[in-house]
Amino acid sequence: MTLKYLIKGGYPVQQATQKYYKRDFWIKENLNYAQPHFRLEKSARIVNKIARGRELDLLDVGCGPATLMHLLPKNVHYYGIDLAIHNPAPNLVQMDFLETPIKFGDKQFDIVLAQGVFEYIGSHQSKKFSEIRRLLKSDGKFILSYVNFGHRKRDIYKVYNNVQSLGDFRRSLERTFHIDKIFPTSHHWRHEEPRRGFMKTIHMHMNMNVPFLSPLFAIEYFFICS
Ligand SMILES: C[S@@+](CC[C@H](N)C(=O)[O-])C[C@H]1O[C@@H](n2cnc3c(N)ncnc32)[C@H](O)[C@@H]1O
Repeated sequence: MTLKYLIKGGYPVQQATQKYYKRDFWIKENLNYAQPHFRLEKSARIVNKIARGRELDLLDVGCGPATLMHLLPKNVHYYGIDLAIHNPAPNLVQMDFLETPIKFGDKQFDIVLAQGVFEYIGSHQSKKFSEIRRLLKSDGKFILSYVNFGHRKRDIYKVYNNVQSLGDFRRSLERTFHIDKIFPTSHHWRHEEPRRGFMKTIHMHMNMNVPFLSPLFAIEYFFICS
């Protein structure tokens, strides 16, 4: 089944049909995330900044092959959930979070992170925000990424079933969380993250919106919420 999009006000707006890909698809697909990639490295930096050496518990929602675990320091205790876990371990739980609530036993977390995930959540978005809210400790942070579908050369992966403008996504998030900060993962003329050298270093350290340019050139956005 192919998803169709209408372009309204410069943004693609998803039409009614939604397809949800399941474990048989993701068990192969998420191997593409087995090596650290730019967004993952940048999120590890953000987590480190928030942790400031403190011991804390982090839940990675849609953790894939748990690649992030290897980028975090020992003081950050890593837990992950995903539909397709490759190497079972006590800190990794396999679950379809569209069928069951997002949780990890009765644990509460200092940080919940969901990157590269909400594009695949279909019509379950606000319910999943509420579930994540319940998992956070009172001073906890929710960090998530979301693709910039307003990019001038937007690339809409056929598997995405939740395509929204930044404004719509942000308003939906604000119904459940306070957004402390929003900034692009990186900027590029093409809709792809920097892969090497100088460009990677610059964008790794740049956590700011550039008026007029970010809406057109931001690849994805990070949201830090409390
Ligand atoms: C694009 S990958 C991102 C992986 C990792 N977070 C990263 O950024 O490298 C999306 C992940 O979401 C997981 N996923 C998709 N639908 C899911 C569902 N319904 N329940 C649990 N995990 C799901 C997939 O298995 C996959 O590992």
